[in-house]
Amino acid sequence: MKLTWYGQSTFVIEFGGKKLLTDPALSVNPLAKDLNIDDLEADYILVTHGHGDHVADLEQVAKRTGATIISNYEIVSYYGAKGFQGHPMNHGGKWKFDFGTVKYVHAVHSSVLPDGTYGGNPGGFVVWGDEGCFYLAGDTALTMDMKLIPMTCPSLDVAILPIGDNFTMGYEDAVIASDFVACDKVLGCHFDSFPYIEVDHNAAREAFSAKGKELIIPTIGGTIEI
Ligand code: NI
Ligand code: MN
Repeated sequence: MKLTWYGQSTFVIEFGGKKLLTDPALSVNPLAKDLNIDDLEADYILVTHGHGDHVADLEQVAKRTGATIISNYEIVSYYGAKGFQGHPMNHGGKWKFDFGTVKYVHAVHSSVLPDGTYGGNPGGFVVWGDEGCFYLAGDTALTMDMKLIPMTCPSLDVAILPIGDNFTMGYEDAVIASDFVACDKVLGCHFDSFPYIEVDHNAAREAFSAKGKELIIPTIGGTIEI
């Protein structure tokens, strides 16, 4: 699988022959000011929750690409009423798509759409198929529910975890999260976009390496192949 980061929680993940765009929100991110959502491709759009820093560019990219939105029932229904196609899920459920299997899992956070519409409960995704398995945690605190992932899903090749603190867990808790999900390779996200979530990169990497783990801190537009 190939994962390209576009700031905050926006990735394009090439998996199972499809392009999975996650939480598209370049236009509200100062770090991504030189990027244009119209340059990103998508067959599917995975949306973890309804906050603006995760959905700001969703309608624009869904309109252009015709991609299928995968999210919780409330978010898919909201965009469905606006004419966008989607696949609704809810916590604990999985579905086999043409690129692989997706399970929607628990996140401890909040979820409301930018216009104030209820956004259901926030979540994360575990995705697996011929190319391996990844966990996209979404915005979340460290939670004991993460221990269910290795009990119910194939072993992870990479865990995409927020490390920015303040609105989500910080890197110290992400080290523990990587234990809970039984994955020593972590790709960080949800950091540096705004002053509240600026992170000391070296301290974050050292916290992981001290436990024999690897933290990959992506660069904007940079691609990681796993
Ligand atoms: Ni959020
Ligand atoms: Mn967020």
